Amino acid sequence: MEDSILALLDNAKKEIVASNSTSFVNEVRVKYIGRTGLLTSMLKDLKNFPSQDRPAIGKLLNDARIAIENLISQKTAELIVEEQKQKEYNETLDISLSLPSYKRGVLHPLSIVKNEIIDIFTGLGFSIEDGPEIELSKYNFELLNIPADHPSRAFCDSFYISDDILLRTQTSGIQARVMEKTLPPIKIICPGKVYRPDDDATHSPMFQQIEGLYVDKNVSLADLKSVLQLFAKKFFSESTKVRFRPSYFPFTEPSVEVDLSCAMCGGAGCSLCKGTGWLELLGAGVVNPIVLDNCGIDSSIYSGFAFGIGIERATMVKYGIPDMRILFDGDVRYIDQFR
Ligand code: DAH
Repeated sequence: MEDSILALLDNAKKEIVASNSTSFVNEVRVKYIGRTGLLTSMLKDLKNFPSQDRPAIGKLLNDARIAIENLISQKTAELIVEEQKQKEYNETLDISLSLPSYKRGVLHPLSIVKNEIIDIFTGLGFSIEDGPEIELSKYNFELLNIPADHPSRAFCDSFYISDDILLRTQTSGIQARVMEKTLPPIKIICPGKVYRPDDDATHSPMFQQIEGLYVDKNVSLADLKSVLQLFAKKFFSESTKVRFRPSYFPFTEPSVEVDLSCAMCGGAGCSLCKGTGWLELLGAGVVNPIVLDNCGIDSSIYSGFAFGIGIERATMVKYGIPDMRILFDGDVRYIDQFR
């Protein structure tokens, strides 16, 4: 009896070792230790043996069952790992599968133009300054030599929050803030949003400007001209002509408006330039000595130039856009053309 139990155990061991799948191991389990398995049947037959032999045979059978169980669980664990590996291998990603296409966003033309202008001036050594959109009238007007009776100070032209606090109407206030706390040389540009109660094809209640300021010893109108000429040619094209027209701003003396030859008609006159051949781009001038002194900079030693570019205006001029409102409509089909 002992020999047949050991032989059975030996066969079971061989079959378990040779198994190459968990389902095969399971078949071996059923064959030997399942409800009607070979070893189980021998255990059931134990009662037919003489009582003095039963404990020894019983022990042999039990030991064999435990050995088979252990081997099976060990082999099953190994095969589970292998089968998982095989499954992962068979399931490699099919990279040829085409995904639904999605559209990438595109920079808004106003952002494109703003970034271009910033790039040109930072390339010329200007650094970027920022200021608050909710501004004191001191910086928005007073220090900039805009007297209390100046038309742009009237309530209808500005969004006031209280008597002396308003949404800034120009980025020029940042000039005053910087000059008040910095010794020359000062060479800055200040991009930002500004607010005025206007709303038509060429005006929006919110628009953006880039203020520029250069203060040092011996800065003159000639420096302003050469910097703005260089800017215009880089921003538009080498062939762009630049025209300086006398103008008036309280914070500059002398003041100029800068026009560009119309990019659409090359100066011959068209609907974009209203037949003049020129497009108005920006305001500028030599910083009024009163403004320098107001901000604590000695105007007998220092001088400067300043300019203010409207970003919407520059975008309209550059791309020949006749109505500003299209820039604020959020129509993705329109914006997408600037891809
Ligand atoms: N602040 C002016 C405006 O909003 C633009 C401007 C003109 C700024 C001349 C300047 C300047 O610095 O010198 O229309």
